[in-house]
Amino acid sequence: MNIKVFTTTKQVQDYAAHCKKNGQTIGLVPTMGALHDGHLSLMKVAKEKSDIVIASVFVNPVQFGPNEDYDAYPRQFEADCQKLDQAGVDAVFHPAKEEMYPEGYTTYVTVDGSLTNRLCGASRPGHFRGVATVVTKLLNITQADRAFFGQKDAQQVVVISRFVRDLNMTAQIEIVPIFRSANGLALSSRNVYLSAQEKNKALVLSQSLQLAKEAYKKGEVKTSQLKNIVRAHLQTEAAATVEYVELYSFPDLNEIDEVRGKALLAIAVKIGTVRLIDNIILEA
Ligand code: PAJ
Repeated sequence: MNIKVFTTTKQVQDYAAHCKKNGQTIGLVPTMGALHDGHLSLMKVAKEKSDIVIASVFVNPVQFGPNEDYDAYPRQFEADCQKLDQAGVDAVFHPAKEEMYPEGYTTYVTVDGSLTNRLCGASRPGHFRGVATVVTKLLNITQADRAFFGQKDAQQVVVISRFVRDLNMTAQIEIVPIFRSANGLALSSRNVYLSAQEKNKALVLSQSLQLAKEAYKKGEVKTSQLKNIVRAHLQTEAAATVEYVELYSFPDLNEIDEVRGKALLAIAVKIGTVRLIDNIILEA
């Protein structure tokens, strides 16, 4: 394997300083591991747009709520490393949680208001504070020129773009489209919790979004109608429990009665006990 494996911030800082001295640009791809082809699509874009790619694999404790799956979250660092190496990633940062949050750690990044109190923020209080904090730390540690995030977590990338702007950070935030399996299921590390049967049932998520997209293309612009189309299709699957179906302007996440510019149609649905999210952007 050619990939450099770093576990301390000091190692990454020294490597980043060395790359910068050579005039190389650095691309960062933060992940929590259990890597799949969705993550690897981010690595590919990062490679195209940066001289050096640093990936991070860190299950960030501060973005998980007390009743969430922090302990159960899939961890498979050896396999992740091999995939990153094959993808041509230059270095991976895999810190212990004490390296990122040593005793006495007290500093957090909070993005207020409608960007974080709706969609996933409504059911996951503190989640985006945890994401914003760890991504700020990763951007600082790696000195990245660009950082790459998936459209899969649309609210996450909106929140990250906002604090980077608000805090005058210089990294450019890049959005990579959702990577789906051939049948439409958005790839997610949490898909490993689904049985084969449940994976089939989970297709109802992407199908419902597609139905709304088709209606939109045929001229339906009313928020309530488009949301109804999604809900109606989700209800055809008995194993599906809807957490939210929302349609907001993108990227500001404002309430809209009708789709006029870019809009985000986003859903969170439990299939059995597994919470899945999916979304599409509607635009003229
Ligand atoms: P994780 O869920 O591992 O996702 C890492 C990155 O991969 C995110 O930017 C996510 O949007 C992207 N991603 C996941 N599935 C994707 C898919 N099917 N298509 C395209 N991109 C996909 O998101 C996180 O980790 C964490 O919150 C993190 C940003 C690392 C902070 O801890």
